This record gives sequence, C-alpha cells and structure tokens, in this order.
Amino acid sequence: MFTSGADMRPNNNPEKIVMANCLVTGGAGFIGSHLTELLLQRGHHVTVLDNLSTGRAVNLDAVQDHERLTIRSGSITDPVLLSEVVHGADNIYHLAAAVGVKLVADDPVRTIQTNIFPTEQLLRLAASSGVRKFFLASTSEVYGKHPGNAWLEDDDLHLGPTCRPRWAYGCSKAIDEFLALAFHQKYGLGVTVGRFFNVVGPRQVGNYGMVVPRFVDAALRGGPVTVYDDGSQIRCFGHVQEVVDCIYALVDSDDAAGRVFNIGSDQAVSILELAQKVIEMVNPEVEIQFIPYGEAYGDDFEDVQRRVPNTDRLAETIGRRPSMPLDRILEDIIAARRAAMPSS
Ligand SMILES: NC(=O)c1ccc[n+]([C@@H]2O[C@H](COP(=O)([O-])OP(=O)(O)OC[C@H]3O[C@@H](n4cnc5c(N)ncnc54)[C@H](O)[C@@H]3O)[C@@H](O)[C@H]2O)c1
Repeated sequence: MFTSGADMRPNNNPEKIVMANCLVTGGAGFIGSHLTELLLQRGHHVTVLDNLSTGRAVNLDAVQDHERLTIRSGSITDPVLLSEVVHGADNIYHLAAAVGVKLVADDPVRTIQTNIFPTEQLLRLAASSGVRKFFLASTSEVYGKHPGNAWLEDDDLHLGPTCRPRWAYGCSKAIDEFLALAFHQKYGLGVTVGRFFNVVGPRQVGNYGMVVPRFVDAALRGGPVTVYDDGSQIRCFGHVQEVVDCIYALVDSDDAAGRVFNIGSDQAVSILELAQKVIEMVNPEVEIQFIPYGEAYGDDFEDVQRRVPNTDRLAETIGRRPSMPLDRILEDIIAARRAAMPSS
C-alpha cells in the first residue's frame, strides 16, 4: 500500500542484517517495479519512492505486502522526504524521472525540474550519509543524433538545438551523468551510470509514446497500427528482466564504480519490421497507417534515425548482456497485454 506518513522502514534487528537497504526511486514504474521484485528476491530490504505520475501502484501488486518492502508515496522534488528515504540506505537506484518522448516534448519544464535538481540533491545526501552504491538510470538519448553504427560509451554526444524541446530529456540526463561522475571523483561515491536503450516488457504502457505497447495494443484492438514517418528508423529492444539483471550485477561489481555502461540489446530492427512482426503475431488482418512525426509530436520534433548500442563494456564487466530474441520478447508482452485487457 502507498503511504505518505511517517517513515515505514522496517525496524530491523542489526544482528540479522546480511543484505543491503536499497532505495529505488521510481520503483512503481515499469523498470523500477521489476528491479524492486528482483532486489526482494535476492533478500534485500527495499524502500520505493514514487509519486505515481507515470508509474502505477498495480505494478507492485505482487510484492506490496512483502515484509522487506516499504513504499513511500511522494515526489523526489520534496527535499525533506528525500532526506528521510536516504537515511539508512546502503544502495540507491535512481530511476524516477520525467520519461517518454511525448511527455518530454509536451512539458520540457517538468523534465528539467524533475530530472536535474533532485538528482543533485540525492547525490549530495548519498555522499554525506554513507551510501555505498548509487545507480543512475540514464538513457541512449544522451547520444543525440550520433551518426555511428554502434554507439560506444565514450563517444561524443550529438544533441540537437535547445529550441527543440525533445532534446531537453537527453540534455537533462547528460547533466545527471556529469553530476554523478563528479560525485564519484570528488567524494568516492560508488556511482554507476546505466544508459538504457529501448527497454520493453510486461507493465510498460503506451500512453507516453512507448512504441511496443502502442503497437501491441493497437493490433489487439484490431488496428490500425500507426507508424511515424516511413518506419525506417532502427532500434534495439531489450527485455526488462535482462535489463534489471544487468543493473543488479553492475551494482554488485567493484569494477563498475565511476563508469558508464550501455544497457540494452544490440539486435537491430526497423520500426516498420517491428510493426509487421507485431501484426503477424497478433492478427494478420490488421493494417499499418503511416503518419508524419509532426502530427504526433508537433512540428518542432526531430527523431533519431538509428540507435544501436555497443554493449562490449557491459559484457566484459558482468559477463553477460541482454540477448533475448525479439520474437520471444514480443510473445511475453502480447501475453501480458492480452491478460490485462478487459474481457468482452
Ligand atoms: N523504458 C525505457 O526504454 C528507458 C530508456 C531509457 C531510459 N529510461 C530511464 O529509466 C528510468 C525508468 O523508466 P521507465 O521506463 O520505467 O518509466 P516509468 O515512467 O514507468 O518510470 C518512472 C517512474 O518514476 C516516477 N516518477 C516520475 N517523477 C517522479 C517524481 N517527481 N517523484 C517520484 N517519482 C517520480 C514515475 O511515477 C514512474 O513510476 C527513467 O529514469 C528513464 O529515464 C527508460
């Protein structure tokens, strides 16, 4: 249950603590809820801080009564609440953010306020209160319009102009990365930055422009599936379960501190191929319609044509990388969306 009152952290007997106290900001979100479940499975104590702006309480249904889980309802922009939840934390997983291309393009002020100032405060609190590990959820958006084939963590960033609001998201996360790495350098905080490429799986919703749930839901409703532009944009889709496994392993690894990692699949697919695959798996009768970006996101919008990570650094550090085939990922998502649909 979500509470906004006094700190509900379990009163642990220190004799029995063998595992870490973990704070997951954005823990009721898509990735955060899967991460929360994994941390609980591994025996940790977890405090979730979430304001349910894009997350959903139902995402934590399976664990909401877990004895090692505390859920705090509130915003990372509330400095008092932030210092309360950081108190006693060993590891922080900072996932709360204004996310989604559409939401970000619609409200760049909220993006900047949510994604920059609270991260700085969280890092300051972490550095002064004995937090050991700090995982920052960043994004492939920081690479901007990188022209290369497979993007490497130390490549230059190619962000677009400030007059186009869509770049506010990537810029805000790039500033978070600078802040986090600076706190590592100056205070020795065990910071690891994960740049997520398209993460997909059960619980992701299409409301904020996420392409896979949008396609799957449209196909399940009988179509049409709407593709922006001509669908030649290239993306890679990684299953959320593999992604949270990587986050866990990175935080566990002593070699990951002070470093940036691409986290995602490197199997490239065009958006049109993705639409065709979804249709083939859900209902071959469904049609595809093409609309210009401007109609979906406004005239200011510009997209990235190709977004593929090089994940060698990740594999060298933790011994694995997301590799689930797209068909299996889609099967999982389609089954979850079918189960969630109201029966007619
Ligand atoms: N899903 C992806 O493909 C992807 C790709 C790149 C980066 N990311 C990053 O991963 C993280 C998680 O994203 P997600 O896909 O799970 O999205 P999500 O929207 O499901 O999760 C974000 C969570 O943060 C919460 N939140 C937002 N503002 C908050 C605030 N002010 N205070 C407290 N909680 C707040 C939301 O309610 C939500 O639960 C984000 O930092 C996002 O930028 C995700």
